[in-house]
Amino acid sequence: MYQGLLHSHSGLRYIVLILLLAVIVKSTIGWLGKKPFTGIDNKLSLWLLITTHIQFLLGLVLYFQSPWVQFSGDTMGNSQLRYWTVEHVVAMLIAVVLITIARSTSKRMKEDEARHKRLAIFNEMAFFIILITIWLGGRGILSMNM
Ligand code: HEM
Ligand code: HEM
Repeated sequence: MYQGLLHSHSGLRYIVLILLLAVIVKSTIGWLGKKPFTGIDNKLSLWLLITTHIQFLLGLVLYFQSPWVQFSGDTMGNSQLRYWTVEHVVAMLIAVVLITIARSTSKRMKEDEARHKRLAIFNEMAFFIILITIWLGGRGILSMNM
């Protein structure tokens, strides 16, 4: 169970990162080039939201099974335990919230340029938070532990 969840959570990161990049590139071009907001833009941001929410759910279940998540007097003094118990969750949660807000607020906007801009900026912030957080985990951003 634990291994399966870890591998799924590990593997899904690549799909989240690829979709994030796709949404960022597409919406930045749309924003700066003043292009219409198309069905593809809508689909891409929906897929990104769904995979991000699944990733969040997998992480949540994993949190209660991982040997690296511990609540003891040593947790804060041990950088590995602190990272997996506190830092990873808090930072990733911020990224998940940014991706969700990007989608739900842009959906309600009327102007295409504003929708592109909202998706571009919020998802860029999420992308950098995720990259830095994975890097801080010390297992490599593109590790093959799948
Ligand atoms: C976009 C969001 C997230 C991304 C991209 C992400 C990415 C990752 C990566 C790359 C790993 C390392 C996997 C490996 O060693 O192969 C990992 C592990 C883990 N993540 Fe996340 N994560 C996200 C959100 C979350 C959330 C929200 C939680 C908790 C609520 C969480 C909890 C965990 C736990 C418990 C581990 C396992 C540590 C272990 O036992 O080795 N993650 N995550
Ligand atoms: C505990 C886990 C989850 C939480 C707390 C959560 C929370 C949310 C929130 C806050 C929204 C935004 C609503 C809005 O537009 O204002 C949302 C939308 C959505 N979530 Fe989740 N979610 C979770 C798990 C999932 C999972 C597992 C999936 C997919 C299998 C999923 C798919 C979606 C979809 C499709 C939308 C609406 C997309 C749209 O049309 O904009 N969520 N969720």
